Amino acid sequence: MTRRTAFAVGIGLTAALTLAGCSTDSSASAGSAPELKVSDGYMPQPVSDLAAGFLIITNSGGTTDKLTSVTSDLSEHITIHKTENQRMQEVKSFTIPAGGTLDLERGGNHIMFEKLKQRPTQGQKVTVQLHFEKADPIEVELPVKETTYNPAQH
Ligand code: CU
Repeated sequence: MTRRTAFAVGIGLTAALTLAGCSTDSSASAGSAPELKVSDGYMPQPVSDLAAGFLIITNSGGTTDKLTSVTSDLSEHITIHKTENQRMQEVKSFTIPAGGTLDLERGGNHIMFEKLKQRPTQGQKVTVQLHFEKADPIEVELPVKETTYNPAQH
């Protein structure tokens, strides 16, 4: 082997290592993971031992995620519901598209709390934990609003 060939092989190896390093870095950093932010959450003041929760989840990441469950000290019976033809129906998960939003709003998708341990009143806050298929859980406080509150009408 001549000195020149050895030099070329050396360069080739270095280039390959650099490339491998680059691609590992980019897959681990922003762009691929879901990046979730929760906003506009509230709970209308419950009038029975049932309550509903509403909020908006924005996914600014590059991967679709799913809201899979909700937990809270307020109730051990929390499910997620969609509304179709004015009838609500439990779902296993809600999709939060990459670069999109999941809207839980009156008349549509919502969090359903049953068998409330106590009835929160307007002005109080209810802490809930949102669980996702990929992202880490997010804890949010839902302010309790008047029973008929609907931000879409404000
Ligand atoms: Cu419901």
